[in-house]
Amino acid sequence: MTPLGCSGDLFDAPGATTPLAPQALLLHGFALDLEADLGEWIGAIAARSPFRHMQTPGGQRMSVAMTSCGAAGWISDARGYRYEALDPCRGEPWPPLPELFSALARRAATTAGFAGFDPDACLINRYQSGARMSLHQDRDERDLAQPIVSVSLGLTATFLFGGARRSDRPVRVPLRSGDVVVWGGVSRLAHHGVGPVAAGAHPRFGQYRFNLTFRRAR
Ligand code: SIN
Ligand code: FE2
Repeated sequence: MTPLGCSGDLFDAPGATTPLAPQALLLHGFALDLEADLGEWIGAIAARSPFRHMQTPGGQRMSVAMTSCGAAGWISDARGYRYEALDPCRGEPWPPLPELFSALARRAATTAGFAGFDPDACLINRYQSGARMSLHQDRDERDLAQPIVSVSLGLTATFLFGGARRSDRPVRVPLRSGDVVVWGGVSRLAHHGVGPVAAGAHPRFGQYRFNLTFRRAR
């Protein structure tokens, strides 16, 4: 493990890990060899449940486009944040969670010290240049003893990882394609967000950054 701030790009090789906080770990390049398969699955899922820009409860259009797969999808609208078994765009269940997805999430969780994680939902975020996600907690899940596993693909973004209070100063780390972050335990309710994504062209994912977050929602 390299302490945060002491690892140059040279050392962030696949297999390296960087702690972001207690029980919050960045696994560099952990999903790199699955990039192509994950990209194909994202396309297949979006062909059924398209990416859409949801509204915040306050009525703002989110800059990140989202879809979901699994038993429950994360929704935001005028009524608030929640998980729904049906995709409101279609009135049908979300596409199932591919085994490739859940196996990756379980393996990453185990590597980070959370053996036994069994995700039932995956939120898929799509960022274009300028898209960002402000600091928030993931707290709509029923069992907060289960961690969050986050897989980044495509363009690099700056991840902000703070503390239990919104005012806790976050650490900032680049998340590159193939990087996986796992947080749980004492960091499960840490505030986190993503800085505005800069325009670019990723060899596989083009003008986009994708992020898969795996949760135990129900
Ligand atoms: C999220 O918090 O849902 C997304 C985090 C990310 O895009 O890296
Ligand atoms: Fe989140």
